[in-house]
Amino acid sequence: MRTGHRPAGAGADDLRHRYERIAPFYDLLDLPFEYGRYRSIRPLLFQGLSGRLLDAGVGTGRNMRFYPAGSEVVGLDLSPAMLKRAERRRGLSPASVELVQMDISRLAFPNASFDAAVATFVFCTLPDELQLPSLRELGRVVRPQGTIRLLDYTRPQGRIRQMVTRLWEPWAGWAFGASFDRPTEQLISEAGLVLTSSHFIVDDLIRLIEAKPAC
Ligand SMILES: C[S@@+](CC[C@H](N)C(=O)[O-])C[C@H]1O[C@@H](n2cnc3c(N)ncnc32)[C@H](O)[C@@H]1O
Repeated sequence: MRTGHRPAGAGADDLRHRYERIAPFYDLLDLPFEYGRYRSIRPLLFQGLSGRLLDAGVGTGRNMRFYPAGSEVVGLDLSPAMLKRAERRRGLSPASVELVQMDISRLAFPNASFDAAVATFVFCTLPDELQLPSLRELGRVVRPQGTIRLLDYTRPQGRIRQMVTRLWEPWAGWAFGASFDRPTEQLISEAGLVLTSSHFIVDDLIRLIEAKPAC
């Protein structure tokens, strides 16, 4: 595992501590969601992608088995403990995978060095002040006409699901730094990106956003 040479931004430190703390239990805590909900939707993130790809906030490597065969994927994460767990999943991937420790809001990659970038359940954990810099960084490192896909939780409108998320959010905030109210989609154009599609893929709870760098 490589370490990105740019230090993490101040706002990222708190999240790194959280994920260092939760890493040993992460897969266990996430298991019901992974098998009940995420596993069937992860392949959508990689449909039609090829070449050099970035998995930003790779976590414990749950996306790895769905990377397109023959592609070269860089998986980055802020937390060394999460990356250690991802390392164990590398063998499951049909792609070649490199893992690096790096802050998504301060990427150490050259401009236009990726064909596409994905981030699954990462922007809902990023504090509001890191949303815009992180979107800008993805737009900078993805080539013009390349693809950026973000899979994230949003605040649901239905009354029952709203109640469930209200009960769930203190734990999600404490454990994962997650919020249902991140302004990610509203910041897309300010970040220099063009929104190409945005739709719910699980009820009115999980949204897939697709964007590309504005030329
Ligand atoms: C909720 S987990 C999602 C992990 C994985 N993408 C998945 O779908 O299972 C969020 C991940 O984002 C990482 N993360 C949070 N802030 C980050 C940042 N500023 N830069 C890079 N990774 C970050 C965390 O360490 C954690 O591994």
